[in-house]
Amino acid sequence: MKLSKRLSVIEPSMTLKVSAKAAELKAKGIDVVSFGAGEPDFDTPTHIKEAAKKALDNGATKYTQVEGTPQLRKAVAAWFAKAHGFAVAPNEVIVSVGAKQGIFNAFHAILDEGDEVILPAPYWVSYSEITKLAGAKPVPVWCRPEDGFNVDPKEVEKAITPRTKLILIVSPSNPTGAVFDEKAVRALAALAVKHNLWLLTDDIYRSLCYGDAKVTQPATFGPEVRERTIIVDGVSKAFAMTGWRIGFTLAPPAVIEAMGTLQGQSTTNAAAVSQAAALAAIEGPTDEVERMRQEFDKRRQYMVKTLRAMPGVTCVEPMGAFYAFPDVSAFNGRKTPSGRVIDGDASLCEYLITDAQVAAVPGSAFCAPGYMRLSYATSQANIDKGLGRIAEALKNLK
Ligand SMILES: Cc1ncc(COP(=O)(O)O)c(C=O)c1O
Repeated sequence: MKLSKRLSVIEPSMTLKVSAKAAELKAKGIDVVSFGAGEPDFDTPTHIKEAAKKALDNGATKYTQVEGTPQLRKAVAAWFAKAHGFAVAPNEVIVSVGAKQGIFNAFHAILDEGDEVILPAPYWVSYSEITKLAGAKPVPVWCRPEDGFNVDPKEVEKAITPRTKLILIVSPSNPTGAVFDEKAVRALAALAVKHNLWLLTDDIYRSLCYGDAKVTQPATFGPEVRERTIIVDGVSKAFAMTGWRIGFTLAPPAVIEAMGTLQGQSTTNAAAVSQAAALAAIEGPTDEVERMRQEFDKRRQYMVKTLRAMPGVTCVEPMGAFYAFPDVSAFNGRKTPSGRVIDGDASLCEYLITDAQVAAVPGSAFCAPGYMRLSYATSQANIDKGLGRIAEALKNLK
């Protein structure tokens, strides 16, 4: 059977693959510690679940408006306005099936065949594949570990060509946990204005910052930046609501309208009950969000300290999200106890899952060979056990 040419240009999501592999081994009764998941281990706060149950009893079982219920759109507009300090109208926002669909639809709304998208690398697995599906070309721009993986606007400027259409910003970053500093974000915004480019900021980890890290939203710089900025956000990570599949996009009305048309010919509205839950999330108390953030912060500090204590491992301090991204390239060329040679991050991760029952995502999946991504969105007991196994497995490489 021949499948479409369109799909032949993209790869399956490596992060989802690693999580699926860990789940499969667990189902066989193998005691796997998974650092693969990009989702909080906490449950959705009770008041949100209760609101969803009530909504079901009150008829949230039907189609809604494609762009989201008027009540939710209005609340999302107010939520964005409060977060960023500028007025937002409901026709500037759309509710999608997760932030991922927001990114997918926004890319398809603005990109043409042959356009180029600048992706500060290491970058989340889906940006490059969505870019390719939209007929455009991903252009990675390396962020250096010695800069804490902060983006270097000079490198971005070098990558701009007449075909460049969009610069992507994800801060805090998946997979590095970097929070881009204000100076860098200002420079990127200036480049976007100078070269007439779009900026898309993926703010899904916005509320998960640690220490004195602060997210800079370029749309706050003024109307000339705001009119070219698309902000994707959502409830998945901050409110532990990954399974509800709700994301929000804020963009100029013409982009929102195009995204609505695309959504209307593909998924229609996000699930009615999930929209009701998202409404309760963004209008309700945020003390649970803060409690989870503090817990992530403790685990982050522990994980970084423990990784840095492993000979051969270096690790930049992540300042947001819930991932550590250690450099494990020192193990290339070493031999496993069974005599296999480690020839890169994928082979190291394969060794870790088969010989130590620990799942981690190879850095290559994020355009960063020599690294691996460990999520600390798992219990402290799992982190202890998993890091212990990694330390032992690395020690056994000769
Ligand atoms: C950087 C980034 N953006 C977007 C998403 C997708 O979010 P959602 O689950 O709301 O679709 C993820 C999930 O892993 C992510 O890491």
